[in-house]
Amino acid sequence: MTLVAITGTPGTGKSTVADELRSRGYAVVDLKRHIIENGLMGDLDEERDTHEVDLDALNDSLEVYHGEGLTFMEGHLSHYMDCSTIIVLRCSPQVLARRLRERGYSERKIRENVQSEILDVILCEATDGEIPVFEIDSTGLDVADTADAIEKIVKGEGDDYLPGVTDWSREMEAWF
Ligand SMILES: Nc1ncnc2c1ncn2[C@@H]1O[C@H](COP(=O)(O)OP(=O)(O)OP(=O)(O)O)[C@@H](O)[C@H]1O
Ligand SMILES: [Mg+2]
Repeated sequence: MTLVAITGTPGTGKSTVADELRSRGYAVVDLKRHIIENGLMGDLDEERDTHEVDLDALNDSLEVYHGEGLTFMEGHLSHYMDCSTIIVLRCSPQVLARRLRERGYSERKIRENVQSEILDVILCEATDGEIPVFEIDSTGLDVADTADAIEKIVKGEGDDYLPGVTDWSREMEAWF
């Protein structure tokens, strides 16, 4: 199976790097779009301001991509799917907050996402299973560098990106 998940906290750059990978000729499934197009978007959870998604149904719907060629999928649920590799994009709290502020996110939503990034929430979820996990800190990189790092990982040259390269714990006090 050569489905590779690109996941990470909102704003870490998944969709941006996905466009770069597409321009390099790779197939990349936009999971959010896939969920909408396949009628998998559940009810709005107003408290959490997100739609519920049936992860089993989503996983089943991705079966078609488990063919021979390499396919990426990008989205903050991608690490819950059956895949061969999980790549977690990371971003420093300050830069992440700035990116989300530029999107017009509320201060509450910015704080929630930044806290989640500091606590390595997605990385921990990803490393919970048996699938190989890598992380890329996109903070000081441009999009081409991030795509280069992803290419290295899928070529089996991802030693520089094993979990543990990021540590936002010094930012704790500012955000909690
Ligand atoms: N090295 C980088 N890689 C990717 N994005 C970057 C990088 N440096 C800066 N950015 C910027 O960070 C922002 C990332 O937004 P993007 O929509 O790609 O995030 P996302 O992870 O897809 O978020 P969401 O989960 O909400 O879909 C963009 O404005 C992008 O230009
Ligand atoms: Mg996105």
